[in-house]
Amino acid sequence: MTVRGFAAKRVVTCDPAQGGALGAIDDGLVVVDGARIAFVGRRENAPQGTPVEDLGERVITPGLIDAHTHACWVGSRDEEYAQRMAGRDYRDIARAGGGILSTHRAVAAATEEELADALVGRLRRMASLGVTTVEVKSGYGLDAPHEKRQLRAIARAAAHPDMPSVVPTLLALHALPPSCLDRAAYVARVTGDLVMEVAREKLARFVDAFVDAAAFSAEEALAIGKAALAVGLGVRLHVGQFADVGGAQLAASLGAASVDHLEHVSPEGIDTLARAGVTAVLLPVSSFTLDQPAPPVASLRAAGVPLVVASDANPGTAPTESLPLALAMAVRSYGLSPEEAILGATRNAATSLRLDDRGVLREGARADLAIWDLPHEQAIVQPWGLKKTHLVLVGGRAT
Ligand code: NIG
Ligand code: FE
Repeated sequence: MTVRGFAAKRVVTCDPAQGGALGAIDDGLVVVDGARIAFVGRRENAPQGTPVEDLGERVITPGLIDAHTHACWVGSRDEEYAQRMAGRDYRDIARAGGGILSTHRAVAAATEEELADALVGRLRRMASLGVTTVEVKSGYGLDAPHEKRQLRAIARAAAHPDMPSVVPTLLALHALPPSCLDRAAYVARVTGDLVMEVAREKLARFVDAFVDAAAFSAEEALAIGKAALAVGLGVRLHVGQFADVGGAQLAASLGAASVDHLEHVSPEGIDTLARAGVTAVLLPVSSFTLDQPAPPVASLRAAGVPLVVASDANPGTAPTESLPLALAMAVRSYGLSPEEAILGATRNAATSLRLDDRGVLREGARADLAIWDLPHEQAIVQPWGLKKTHLVLVGGRAT
């Protein structure tokens, strides 16, 4: 049977056409036909003859979309975490060859299959928490062959059946490789050959760069952004995690899909983002872990910058795989409303990934659904740390 209806106390569509902050429908029904949604509305208006499963007091939302992760990694940074909790600085560990470089060594020593297997495990656990689309960055390979291998591992994991869909991103400028003696030559190589090869082999949809003090300058990232756009890839940028080095203005000038982090951004930077229609991807787990301040959420909101919330899942700054945990922190420590947090993991997250077939429940959209064992959608953002899903569908199939 390919047509199935799911009736629940609350169907949270996130579709502005339904009105209200989240387009919620009481006593609602979602009908799935194969991989697509065939009907969304009140239960009493169910298309005739549809077999309907009654989910009772539960809540249905669009499957959650995690728009920023570094989920393809192996190895362990547990020792570093303990050092950091004892007072050592993240950047100090990085300068001493740990941090990103530590995961780089583990990733470089692993096979493509080992990398893919690690990612498959994480994607499965993410799906169990309600996540149906995951952006996954490379960025631990550092040199061209290893970056491409990491992207091939991401593609291999994505091809497994009944997994969240994966949006791969080439994180081209993350850190200088350990053996690098010539910074300009490294940036030129990545900007030239690597971006072109990745586009030709369809290994990524976006290119990212870490634009920050002690990382890469806006000028270096400009080169990579232009190279990406020239071969039809979108741009997303790590901006202002530690300091404002002009990343927001750069993102706006490139027409980037997103700027991510934004703990440090000027009022002018916010204005240019708003005018250019760039989404802000907020990563509360990493600012919590690093003791960074919250981004200027009130100013971003007032300027009309669409807010996205993502997990940043990585072994250094965001030791979690849980997007619902990030939503909880976005509400608790960034001051987002529960509605803003939910939109930030559905409709706005889809916009930031340039996916127009998901993030809302409406006829014709992908049948990506999270069915929650919760009385109300506000319970997604608290209590924390629990698995709260009843059933998760990706393209109409149970994960
Ligand atoms: O988003 N800012 C740089 N990249 C990651 C951290 C990666 C790591 O520490 O392994 C981040 O926080
Ligand atoms: Fe990140």
